[in-house]
Parts: sequence; C-alpha cells; structure tokens
Amino acid sequence: MTEPTEVQRGLEDVVALESRICFIDGKQGRLIYDGYDIRDLAARSTFEEVAYLLWYGQLPTRTQLDDLSARFGNLRTLPDEVVRAIDAFPAAANPMDVLRTTVSGLALFEPEETRPGTSSIGGAQRLTAVIPTILGQFHRRRAGLPPLVPRPELSSAAYLLYALLNREPSELESRATDVALILHADHELNASTFAARVTASTLSDLYSAITSAIGTLKGPLHGGANERVMELLEQIGTVDLVEEVVKGKLSRHERIMGFGHRVYKVEDPRATILREWSRKLGEAKGNLRYYDLLRKLEEVVHREKGLYPNVDLYSGSVYALLGIPRDLFTPIFAASRVAGWTAHVLEEYQDLRLIRPTAKYVGPTDLKYVPIAERGA
Ligand code: CMC
Repeated sequence: MTEPTEVQRGLEDVVALESRICFIDGKQGRLIYDGYDIRDLAARSTFEEVAYLLWYGQLPTRTQLDDLSARFGNLRTLPDEVVRAIDAFPAAANPMDVLRTTVSGLALFEPEETRPGTSSIGGAQRLTAVIPTILGQFHRRRAGLPPLVPRPELSSAAYLLYALLNREPSELESRATDVALILHADHELNASTFAARVTASTLSDLYSAITSAIGTLKGPLHGGANERVMELLEQIGTVDLVEEVVKGKLSRHERIMGFGHRVYKVEDPRATILREWSRKLGEAKGNLRYYDLLRKLEEVVHREKGLYPNVDLYSGSVYALLGIPRDLFTPIFAASRVAGWTAHVLEEYQDLRLIRPTAKYVGPTDLKYVPIAERGA
C-alpha cells in the first residue's frame, strides 16, 4: 500500500479507476460514450440505442434495438404493492424522495433470486424501464390525472412524456425529450455514478447502488441545479434585470446555478445542444422568454465571472416548455442517468475492487479517557 500524501479535497483530479464507458475532454469540451461523440448521438440516435451502447459497449443492430425496445415496453409495470405504496406517499413529497424510496422498496418485491437478472443487464433494463412509471404513478395521483397504463408501443421518451402529462406528445416534443435523455445518460465518474460504484464495490446489489445514486443526484450542486435555474429565471423576471440580479448574487458570493463544472473548462457540449433545443421548442411554442433570459444570463455570468454554462442551464427550459412541473426535472435526469449508473455498476462487478479511500487524520490521539461521572454536568 502507498502512504497517503496530500489530501485531494473532493477527490479533484484523482483517477480512481479505469472505465470504457465515458470520456470527457474538459479542455476541448468533448463528451464521448463508448467511442461515439455526444453530438453524433444527439443528432442521430435514440435513448434506447444509447442505453444499449452503454451496457454492451457497441451500437445495436436493428434486431437488437427492436428486442431492447420490446423489453423496455414489457418491463414498465410495477407490482400492485408498490403502486399502493406510491399512492400512500404524501402528495407534497419531493419526487426525488419518492423515486429513491420506491426504487429501494421495489427490491422488496423483486427479491434477488427472482429479479430479472439480478445485478445484471436484466436488472439494468428493469430499472431503466420502470422509472418513468414510478414518476408517472406519483405525479398523476397528485395532479388528479387518470391512472397510468404501460403503453409498451411507445418509445422511452414518448412514454415518459405520456406518463407525466397524460397526452400524446408531438414528434418535436418526443425528439426534444429523447435528446435530453441521450445527453444525460452518462458522465463518467460524476458524484452519483461514483456513489453507485462505491455501493457496488462492496458487492451490494444493483437496487442498493441505484438507491445511493438517486440520493446523491438530488443535491443542488449535481442534478438539482436545473430546478434552481428555473427558480432564478422566475426571480429575475425580465431580460433587463439579469445584470442587476447576477451582480448582486456574485457580490454576495452566491453561486449561479447552471454554470461551472469540475471537469469542463470550456462550454459543456451538452449545454450547446440543449441551447438549440430550448430555442427550437421556444419558437414552436411561441415562447422565447426562457431562451432570451438564459442567453442574457450566459452573457453576464461569462463577463463577470468567466464561467461557462453546464448541462443544467438549458435543460430546465426545455422541460418547462414541454409542460413538465419543475420538481420533476431532477427525476427526469435520473430516468436517463440510470442507464449510465447501471452500466457503471455492471462494469464495477466485472473489475471489482472495494472502493475505500483514506482520510488524513487531523484530530488528537493521546487524550486520557475520563469516566462519565467525572466529566461534570
Ligand atoms: N457561480 C458562481 N461562482 C462559481 C460557480 C457558479 N456556478 N461555479 C464555480 N464558481 C466559482 C467558485 O466560487 C470558485 O471561485 P473562487 O475561486 O473565487 O472561490 C471557483 O469558481 C471554482 O469553483 P469550485 O467550487 O472550486 O469548482 P468545483 O469544481 O468544485 O465546482 C460545481 C463545480 C459544478 C460544483 C460548481 O461550478 C457549481 O457549484 N455550479 C453551480 C451548480 C451547478 O450548476 N451544478 C450542475 C453541475 S453539471 C451537472 C451535474 O453534475 O449534475
């Protein structure tokens, strides 16, 4: 074992493992899944294709893709007990709490010995297929929408929209959602994926690993940022107030959500693609308010702080234009990232090494134990 040296706070720049799944070139602003540039995937592929790519390391043939789509369609149903549990959750619950608790609870009704391919690609497909159902089941009840039916004929993107909105999405809306799912599907060793891999590295099961990941994604420095961006837009209100609000926040050393990144030192390529979709959807819906505000926000934040947008800057505007309630933005991130999380967990099982770093101890070591009766009141 090598002796611990300097502390790398936040594990910044620490290379923790080898992975074939995802490569980020933070200097050039490139993102690669299994060898394929995200720009090509976003322009030409589907979420199903990308999930296949992440799990199997290669793009599917037509037959393989059709098989996977059919499997997704068949795996969308929840056990009755789990449906009843979701219906018993408080309607005011945070949907990320609902998702985390339900994925964890689902494991009780799909015991390890009977789960479709426990801790295997079967389990990865099950979790990826069922997350839109969990979100739809919860959201429809609280919104007073009719009960959800599985709709196996729909693509993942169209099903997600149907589950949440109870309407047939247009081609443009489905494609915008598909692109958002593709862009969020993986991102190397981000905090939630790392959490999933740490859990898997103890040889714990896939459902436990994904439960860890969902809890980690929830934080506003990670997946929760897109919801905060939309709160900020609401707070700002009009383009001419952007400058004043941003300068005020920066002078109070507050972070502007949707900007900055641990790895990208230039623009996040996912932000570039989502900016275009924000504009395209805004034009189609006759509402460019978010787009205009975000463009101005980018200009001011870059000028004042030199920061570039990350994936969370424009994703919220895309979801808002689709009519999705704000507290479902981070759960939608999870509905996509589950493909990457599960791919990483499967990779961890194949090349297992318990993840257990070391801390530099900074406390005392020679204190004399004082019995409780002698410690004062
Ligand atoms: N607004 C204002 N200042 C910022 C921001 C921001 N969004 N991001 C970084 N900075 C400043 C930070 O205050 C620090 O300044 P100084 O050196 O003067 O103290 C400097 O930039 C370096 O920041 P850091 O915190 O050391 O950088 P990091 O690598 O730890 O942070 C980050 C990465 C994503 C946590 C951070 O940029 C941030 O908090 N961004 C806002 C939250 C956000 O948008 N999160 C989504 C990330 S991408 C998707 C995802 O992972 O889910």
